[in-house]
Amino acid sequence: MTDTGTSGRTSLHGFWSSRLAFILAVTGSAVGLGNIWRFPYIAGENGGGAFVIVYLLAIVIVGLPIMMSEVLIGRRGRRNPVSTMRLLGEEESGAANWKYVGVLGVGAGIVILSFYSVIAGWAVAYVIESAGNAFEDATAASVEQVFNALASNPVRTGLWHTLFLVATAFVIARGVERGIERAVRVMMPALIVLLLVLLGYSVVEGAFAQGVQFMFEPRFEELTRDGLMEALGHAFFTLSVGMGAVMAYGAYLPGDASIMKMSVAVVVADTAIALIAALVVFPIVFANGLSPDAGPGLVFQSLPLAFSQMPGGAVISTLLFVLLTFAAWTSAISMMEPATAWCIERLGWSRARAASIVAGITWALSLLTVLSFSTLSDATFLRGTFFDNIDFLSNSILLPLGGLAITIFAGWIMARRSTASELDPEAGTAYRIWRFTARYVTPLAIIAVLLRGVGVI
Ligand code: TRP
Repeated sequence: MTDTGTSGRTSLHGFWSSRLAFILAVTGSAVGLGNIWRFPYIAGENGGGAFVIVYLLAIVIVGLPIMMSEVLIGRRGRRNPVSTMRLLGEEESGAANWKYVGVLGVGAGIVILSFYSVIAGWAVAYVIESAGNAFEDATAASVEQVFNALASNPVRTGLWHTLFLVATAFVIARGVERGIERAVRVMMPALIVLLLVLLGYSVVEGAFAQGVQFMFEPRFEELTRDGLMEALGHAFFTLSVGMGAVMAYGAYLPGDASIMKMSVAVVVADTAIALIAALVVFPIVFANGLSPDAGPGLVFQSLPLAFSQMPGGAVISTLLFVLLTFAAWTSAISMMEPATAWCIERLGWSRARAASIVAGITWALSLLTVLSFSTLSDATFLRGTFFDNIDFLSNSILLPLGGLAITIFAGWIMARRSTASELDPEAGTAYRIWRFTARYVTPLAIIAVLLRGVGVI
């Protein structure tokens, strides 16, 4: 496929072989630990109801318009996010400094991957635990113990997360078409099927009504300033927007594909998977007297409890953690791709060399997260452990700032004819809704949440 689209530019790294391949890759990026591990636990920590509603609002009025903006910018520039922002910045306004938005994003990708790979390492470890029947006759106390034994052991976690990073760099090194595409094709449908099986269990055996009530009954008095920022930050995180990952993928998108339809498809799939995951987790939590605000260990404790009571539980549990590992893998790939593409284009490195060096830097940084769950778990500052801080910094600050810059660029700096030619040459109603939202609603919503977060409003 060599259709370069309206900009006439072509990508150095090749193209997706089809539209479906692009949808799968962006969905693979979006669906990951964010949906299954992070969403339930932060919803639990923030009291459920009101948090979930704000998150859903943020998906629609912030996440979706920014996803469309990223894809259109990426496809127009056809380079890594730094070079694309510089090129389009010069083209649209004569200001090459827009490249710093790309720089911020490339950096944010590495920061996020540094903790993401650690959690993904847990998922890998749980494949082994499940297969070895560690959750037979489990109780609330025993699942907690299995989790703590893993997280508090820096050597064990370190080993698994190193393996995970090597696997990520390996796919990146193989390139866009052969590597990334193949990884998502099989795994996504399988993940959905397995989640539905678990949902069935949760409906029958869990405290389902209580779970639903916890998730959807708005209790706005429980939504703190931090909760509000977390809901916004999570909307960015779960859709992979705000740092240029989607922009990098958009660079390989053939010119004739509909950005609007594709973005809506990805957002719907991502949100559905997160809601199903939470509807699996909370009924199990309540039925077993677990606490919804157990934090990062929530999913790793609630799901094994359910498996232990199911016939064939060990098999289902092994499968689920295999799929979670795959989901995390396809997401991690998208965090590493912008930095890798930049090293290749700017420094002239080979793909393999770029991927190895980016992975090495990420690995070094990730040791801090490994330690923050073990040796340094008592070393708290600002918002808590090192993990709490890096998680807050990336999701609630870097991604919203990156997203704000991207939406302002697409809405205000880019000429109407440029965005229209990428999104919808007829500039129909859908285009007008996007442009109005990207210019006014999205930036104001982000600014309002950030100001509220620092206590100004
Ligand atoms: N969206 C992924 C998840 O929910 C995580 C992710 C992948 C991401 N790429 C990203 C988050 C880029 C922020 C930026 O698990």
